Amino acid sequence: MQAKINGTNIYYVEGGNPAATSVIFIHGFPFSSEIWESQLEALGQDYHAVAYDFGGLGKSAIGDAQYTLESHVDDLIALLDFLEIDKVIVVGLSMGGYIALRALERNPERFLGVALCDTQSKADDNAGKLKRAAGAKAVKKDGSAAFAAGFVEAVFTPASIENKVPQVDFIQKVISANDPLAIAGNLIAMAGRTDTTESLSGIGVPTLILVGEEDKLTPPDAARDMHNRIKGSQLHLVPQAAHMSNLENPEFFNARLLEFLATI
Ligand code: MLT
Repeated sequence: MQAKINGTNIYYVEGGNPAATSVIFIHGFPFSSEIWESQLEALGQDYHAVAYDFGGLGKSAIGDAQYTLESHVDDLIALLDFLEIDKVIVVGLSMGGYIALRALERNPERFLGVALCDTQSKADDNAGKLKRAAGAKAVKKDGSAAFAAGFVEAVFTPASIENKVPQVDFIQKVISANDPLAIAGNLIAMAGRTDTTESLSGIGVPTLILVGEEDKLTPPDAARDMHNRIKGSQLHLVPQAAHMSNLENPEFFNARLLEFLATI
């Protein structure tokens, strides 16, 4: 389905019971809503589940590719309005978590709960910003498939790379299908994002934090820091997982998510 909002087209999928509590899933960079298939299935008919493609990734329109975290939050809120969802539980993985954290700062009245998965509140330091700039240059020059090849090494555990070939191939395919301009635009958006650490102590909704025990991009220490700052939050380390915890260990991930949702 396509939502025409903020002068662009945002692709989304919906599942479950439209009359039930809504849960919106925000994917990481540079993936698409397809990564949430197992989670949408796990929620079944007990929830109204929505997953969407942000920032020209997946099947959403690329637009001018001049994205910011602010424009991503604008699109999230506009999508909720379009779907007539007043309040929602948000599940964000990595960059999806950056969007969720900024949305909680800006529009706390729209959220019933938040699951922060393999993500962090800290903004990029100088080295991080320079790495984004180099990535944007490389993906425009070499294309998405070359970018994907380097990226999968960083987001899966070595054991997953060896033993979870379908999941690794799937992520490689999802990244390769994305336009290099959308990938570059989102790298620049991440480089320019604000630090949300100071606002963590003000989060007033139930919060679940999940992180792959071998996550190197947004490591367990970043998750522990958020957990220490967000009152009443729950933290679980996902075994046998790095950055793609929902794909590497969906059984554990889905069990913790469903337990959390049942408390709201
Ligand atoms: C993501 O998975 O969204 C990104 O790897 C996060 C990041 O690069 O900071």
